[in-house]
Amino acid sequence: MSIPSDRNELATLVTSLRRHLQRQERVGIRFLFPGEALQTNVVMADGENLLSGTEGDLFSDSSATYKAKTLEELREAIGDCRRCKLWSGRTHLVFGVGNPKAKLMFIGEGPGRDEDLQGEPFVGRAGQLLTDIITKGMGFKREDVYIANVVKCRPPENRNPEPDEVASCEPFLKKQIDLVRPEIIIALGKFAVQTLLQSKVPITKLRGNWHSYHGIKLMPTFHPAYLLRNPGDKKLVWEDIKKVIKEMNGENA
Ligand code: URA
Repeated sequence: MSIPSDRNELATLVTSLRRHLQRQERVGIRFLFPGEALQTNVVMADGENLLSGTEGDLFSDSSATYKAKTLEELREAIGDCRRCKLWSGRTHLVFGVGNPKAKLMFIGEGPGRDEDLQGEPFVGRAGQLLTDIITKGMGFKREDVYIANVVKCRPPENRNPEPDEVASCEPFLKKQIDLVRPEIIIALGKFAVQTLLQSKVPITKLRGNWHSYHGIKLMPTFHPAYLLRNPGDKKLVWEDIKKVIKEMNGENA
């Protein structure tokens, strides 16, 4: 980069640098020098460090989010979030819903139009199908399980969340999982599955098999929205759900 030749150029450069640092801060990078970051741990029951890394890497507003001891405290710490660009199009931030001590947690991609309007995950047509899976298929009430998404604000036109949006929001999902500590996660659809498993393997290959998310059993399956378009694959999801029911009943021991 050349040295700025006049005051205007210098001002432009300072503005761009400030914007860049603000963007970095919004995705959780508060330190120019990694050595200055504060080392912190959240250790799962099996000894694995769920939030490995540094506080500075994970939380732009650090301690309040990081130290939250309940889902309510976490929600409060997230606040009127503007850590990524999705805030500008949202009606509601869709945090999550259900039993804070649920044994079973469902994780989807991100809110759609209905969820954005109502502030609750999986309440539209796909949500109705998920509710049927939970209630009619598994015999639970919706309030027995916990439901969340990878990103908490609706991506425009329901596009996939972009990497910076996931980077901003994923720490909150990790913290939600850490607070609920479910025995089993059902990851819904390609996006949630590939994000949680950090994998590019197609969902058709991942679904139906047990995986581990930091020591928590994870079952990938198709997204209910996909099932609305491909009802013929409902039987595959039912096979996956039956495996989860067996596991929860201790029948796989
Ligand atoms: N699709 C998702 O992935 N999540 C929702 O909450 C609704 C639709």
